[in-house]
Amino acid sequence: MLGNILFWILPFVLACHGVVLSDAHSATEKSARWTPRSGAGGQAKPPQKPGYVRMPVSRHKVKGTRKHHGRPGKPPRPGRGPAEQDSSSATAPSLAPRRSSARGWGWSSLDELGGTVYIIELGIGTPPQMVKVLIDTGSYELWVNPRCDTSASESICESQGKYYPNWSSSSTYVGGDFSVTYGTGAVRGSYWADDMNIAMFEIPRVQFAVAEDSNYTFSGILGLGYAYPYTIKYPSVLDLMASQNMISAPIFSLGLGGDQDYFSEIIFGGVNRWKFAGRLEPVPIWPPVSKQDRRWIQYWVNVTSIGMTKPGERGVIYTPRDTFAMPVLLDTGSTLSYMREDLVAQIGQQFSATVDEAGNYIVDCSWRDRDGTVDFGFNRGRMVINVRYKDFVYQQYPGHCMLGFQPADAGSTHYVLGDTFIRGAYLVFDQQSDIVWMNQYYNCGDGVVTVGEVKGDIGDIVGAC
Ligand SMILES: *[C@@H]1O[C@H](CO)[C@@H](O)[C@H](O)[C@H]1NC(C)=O
Ligand SMILES: *[C@@H]1O[C@H](CO)[C@@H](O)[C@H](O)[C@H]1NC(C)=O
Ligand SMILES: *[C@@H]1O[C@H](CO)[C@@H](O)[C@H](O)[C@H]1NC(C)=O
Repeated sequence: MLGNILFWILPFVLACHGVVLSDAHSATEKSARWTPRSGAGGQAKPPQKPGYVRMPVSRHKVKGTRKHHGRPGKPPRPGRGPAEQDSSSATAPSLAPRRSSARGWGWSSLDELGGTVYIIELGIGTPPQMVKVLIDTGSYELWVNPRCDTSASESICESQGKYYPNWSSSSTYVGGDFSVTYGTGAVRGSYWADDMNIAMFEIPRVQFAVAEDSNYTFSGILGLGYAYPYTIKYPSVLDLMASQNMISAPIFSLGLGGDQDYFSEIIFGGVNRWKFAGRLEPVPIWPPVSKQDRRWIQYWVNVTSIGMTKPGERGVIYTPRDTFAMPVLLDTGSTLSYMREDLVAQIGQQFSATVDEAGNYIVDCSWRDRDGTVDFGFNRGRMVINVRYKDFVYQQYPGHCMLGFQPADAGSTHYVLGDTFIRGAYLVFDQQSDIVWMNQYYNCGDGVVTVGEVKGDIGDIVGAC
């Protein structure tokens, strides 16, 4: 599919995933390009290693518009859990198909669901063209240029910026078909390569897809999942940052922050100590990367308890204390979380939820103003993330609120912890150790440490809050 792109990408990638990372060259050094290092000859600039790359994440709030919930026209495809994966699930290279299979919402129908999406800005090409993309831990490719007149939100779509390869002196056409089909839409395009600016740094020759046609999507997407050599045959943005020595290893941390806390950031190769207290708990990816389908490796982890702490009361756990373990996908691209129906019902009951005709759990918006948390345990209670009601109860539009959990499709084990969980946590996605490190999110200041120089060094960091 990628044709001759492989000839120039492979040597580089082998170097990065092998052991030799001999001469670190500046990420901003244009001449580094794809010239084989051995053949470069000339004097390289002194190595410059930023260590980490930090970016503000902007939040786009989209007000939902749809008053009447029904299933979308197409019957939803049953979602798949990690245990059920087979080759057919792997043919869809993005999360999107899954996501829309969960009742047809998620970002592909954001205009109806509403929601907050988390976006960063990239500069692509020479001179850089600014393009905003949604950060998505559930997929692994970068693509840009959604078609706005057929998008879920034309106004947001128009404000995201576009990339025109013919305006860039450094663009290269790669070819190959990029294609993702959702339950309610699709993207189609082809691959290009160009230099990319992320924060102040330049990554030379990044491969990504430029959409030629799309339905429903209103923003490009930066997939941050496992990429080369598993799911794609070329290095992703994250892979390249590591192989270019901008960061030590493919690791990034994410603090989306809560509704009341107007701060969100992503740090590649670093951890902000001032966003949590104590140490980060290592939660292993499960099933292990080696046991997942190689074409569809994702950030699954076991959640080992689900409970609640009501205002002024002691916490209650609703799941069997010593035996409960449920693999869930950590997915920033999913506005809501999707769980086993009986658990949704149990939590729903605590919020006096009603179920609408489409099976959605609807709750009174006044819950958002009360104290209290929904509690997620990991590693048998060694870490519990308490998500405030305000961050868990999702306001679709004023006066209409939904439970942060909705049932996964019947028979599916595709359980997802989306933004209604992630807002409560500080998360470090660590592809060097195949771990998601986590702790309760706080915001008590600011200070970043570089990570990944030694495997597992994240465990030594002590949060400052
Ligand atoms: C670049 O491509 C766009 C879209 O295909 C086109 O409208 C524009 O005229 C082209 N510009 C140049 C300088 O070729
Ligand atoms: C978007 O939908 C239209 C109408 O259903 C269809 O003709 C078009 O091919 C779709 N676009 C993509 C990229 O699939
Ligand atoms: C995850 O849960 C399964 C049981 O569902 C268990 O066999 C496995 O050991 C757990 N993995 C980890 C890393 O705790």
